[in-house]
Amino acid sequence: MSRDSTAKVLTVAFLLCLICSILVSAAAVGLNSRQEQNKIQEKRKNILQAAGLYEEGRPIEAQFEKIQPRLVDLQQDAFSRDFDPITFDSRAAARDPETRYRIPPEQDLAKIKSRSRYKVVYLVMNNDGDLQQLILPVHGKGLWSTMYGFIALADDLSTINGFAFYEHGETPGLGGEIDNPAWKKQWPGKKVYGPSGETRIDVLKGTVDRASANAVYQVDGLAGATLTARGVGNLLRYWMGEDGYKPFLEKLKEEGVKP
Ligand SMILES: Cc1cc2nc3c(=O)[nH]c(=O)nc-3n(C[C@H](O)[C@H](O)[C@H](O)COP(=O)(O)O)c2cc1C
Repeated sequence: MSRDSTAKVLTVAFLLCLICSILVSAAAVGLNSRQEQNKIQEKRKNILQAAGLYEEGRPIEAQFEKIQPRLVDLQQDAFSRDFDPITFDSRAAARDPETRYRIPPEQDLAKIKSRSRYKVVYLVMNNDGDLQQLILPVHGKGLWSTMYGFIALADDLSTINGFAFYEHGETPGLGGEIDNPAWKKQWPGKKVYGPSGETRIDVLKGTVDRASANAVYQVDGLAGATLTARGVGNLLRYWMGEDGYKPFLEKLKEEGVKP
């Protein structure tokens, strides 16, 4: 076989492809666990940020020590020990017939079709062992994607301490402005429920009239991204409503957190 024969060129090209694909596969497999770990850290950072507890530069594990993950059964509207909250995967559970709850279309404001019967929520307790904040996972459709976030409630279980998304695929500069600190700054202090317990929180199209009595339930929309902003309002009204956490929150308010 001459040095420049077609067979030789093809053999070299084939071997090169083989070596490169082995290297790429090895890197993907090798980095998989680190990627998973990074995802967990990112989610924890967002939980801390939603609760206003994140401190830049301090290890996230140390900061997360004061947060207690607990499993909630939304069928019983109560804490549950059916699964371990540390390892429970509520996205997988939303697909599993054993744990899936199909949302009736007329209830499905978040446009997610089904959700897990169980959700992992996060408690922040004060030094006296009383609930200081409750952090709830929420998700729903924006314009292009399902948006996943956390809402942190104060001990009255209606006042918002913070709200942040940790995963979405909305357009940067348009729907992606849900991550803009200036927009997120509006949430703390807003109330989810009205005086008779009705779910009032909403994202407007346009800006909130600060003089209005309703301003405490309202957040400004996003210019040029009304569809994403509407998705945010809808997903909040679903999760904070009758088919979401509301009955659990009402029970929790009456009974308090039991160890
Ligand atoms: C390439 C492209 C990306 C867009 N991305 C978003 C988006 O992420 N979120 C959104 O609400 N609207 C997005 N829009 C705009 C919507 O189509 C729609 O015009 C907008 O939500 C209406 O909001 P407005 O009434 O505030 O203008 C995008 C439009 C284009 C052309």
